[in-house]
Amino acid sequence: MSDSTFYVTTPIYYVNDAPHIGHGYTTVMGDIITRWHRQRGENVWYLTGTDEHGQKVLRKAEENGVSPQDWVDKLVEDEWRPMLATIDVANDDFIRTTEQRHIDGSKAFWTALYERDAVYKGNFEGHYSVSAEEFVSEEDVAEGEGDDEGFKVSKLDGSRVELVAEENYFFRLSDYQQKLLDLYESQPDFIQPESARNEVISFVSRGLRDLSISRSTFDWGIEVPWDDKHVMYVWIEALLNYATAVGYGTDPERFAKVWPADIHLVGKDIARFHAVIWPAMLMAAGEPVPHRVFAHGWLLVGGQKMSKSKANGIRPDELVDTFGSDAYRYYFARALTFGSDGSISWEDINARYHAELANGFGNLASRVAAMIGKYFDGVLPATGAVTVPEQMVIDVVAKAVAEADAAIEAIAPHDALNAIWRIVDELNGYLTEQAPWKVAKDDPDSDRLATILVTAAEGLRVLAVLLNPVMPMSSAALWDSLGAEPSLGALDAQRIDDVATWGQLPAGTTITKPPSLFPRIEAPAE
Ligand code: MSP
Repeated sequence: MSDSTFYVTTPIYYVNDAPHIGHGYTTVMGDIITRWHRQRGENVWYLTGTDEHGQKVLRKAEENGVSPQDWVDKLVEDEWRPMLATIDVANDDFIRTTEQRHIDGSKAFWTALYERDAVYKGNFEGHYSVSAEEFVSEEDVAEGEGDDEGFKVSKLDGSRVELVAEENYFFRLSDYQQKLLDLYESQPDFIQPESARNEVISFVSRGLRDLSISRSTFDWGIEVPWDDKHVMYVWIEALLNYATAVGYGTDPERFAKVWPADIHLVGKDIARFHAVIWPAMLMAAGEPVPHRVFAHGWLLVGGQKMSKSKANGIRPDELVDTFGSDAYRYYFARALTFGSDGSISWEDINARYHAELANGFGNLASRVAAMIGKYFDGVLPATGAVTVPEQMVIDVVAKAVAEADAAIEAIAPHDALNAIWRIVDELNGYLTEQAPWKVAKDDPDSDRLATILVTAAEGLRVLAVLLNPVMPMSSAALWDSLGAEPSLGALDAQRIDDVATWGQLPAGTTITKPPSLFPRIEAPAE
């Protein structure tokens, strides 16, 4: 195993409110990708966390009559950390921007920028959107209409903007236009997918202005190390979490080992921050840039981007309580193309749950175990000769494994699941055609029955391993039912590159019927 670390991050989420399934989406997709890479035997580090400074959080705390620190402490403990358990995320670290390691690391980074003459003091006058925590240039400001009548709004996301006139520090972003264009050219994967890449390149090609990076009219933030009248602009501080979480400024050895990040997963709304400002800051501080930034699309509910402010924000536990965390994870990975917008609905989750999970996969697992129970007293027999239909199963499995692995490498979990589901369909078709229940009646003394059920059990072994990153709970139940652990070891230790090797479950293995993996849900659609 190489010593390098496969380092993946989610955005750090604002704790102005509780999480909704949009936040859960990015986090689950990162979890699927990192669990898969762990099963490739790689050193993985998966980071998520919370973005706690800035005016948006400050104002929310004020509205609720509590100090910002009390507000974020409560929300993180009551809402954000529990969400990870609700959706079964195996992150390695959780960073809060109010932690000392982040404060120290951020100050060290700013000092590096200052010493390298990448920042200067100036006066800022212009518009700011607190909701987006973003400076909005004059050409992107419009007169509000309807509810926003009498206010100015940002054309970028429709949020209200306010006039800001204050002393700020500026970052020399304008120095980085050519260097960034060179980066996109020499590292074509740097920003993906293609739509985000094109957007970013055209934005940078139009020219870059220096960026205001500090605020001096409130103090909920990290002090600029050489000037305590200023706090760092929240975005500039937030981006630094990816570096401070792995030791920038506090543990140089660890930082050198883990940095640069392999993938920053982000929603497309924040692709520019990650693909323009962040690499420029890293270049200015003399640090390597990340390998890839992947911008995914929106979850749409009723055709609209889901968000808390539109009151169409669904909490993860609203779905998990009904469908379970495995089905939740499966749904978002399977039903949406990662990288594009996609509509979700209760009806669609419900339909896929019953058709694909309960009938397609769960039923397959319980049927095979039940037949081995009935015909072989729950003990896996030795296989007979492999004939053409068995060879077809083996070939479909080998191809699907290779395709799924390539899809995860390309950050396309939906394609990985499509490939894996070909195994589910193949096994169901194989059983229908081979009809082991008929063989048991018509030809009980041949070894055909054993061959068919061993082939099906091997197929289930492969499915347990491949689906473990997506549906860890039902995969573990399946692994248990296959009695695989005593001979093959723990499910998490199974390697993707070895999974298609046929005939791993030894004859004599005890197979038991799994608990119902996806029980039917009678709840009415909402
Ligand atoms: N705090 C900043 C990010 C700083 S990263 C250095 C932020 N936070 S946020 O709470 O607004 O979260 C934004 C992220 O949540 C998006 O980039 C995306 O990953 C996720 N999503 C929020 N709403 C979403 C949808 N409706 N659909 C898909 N993802 C969504 O921006």
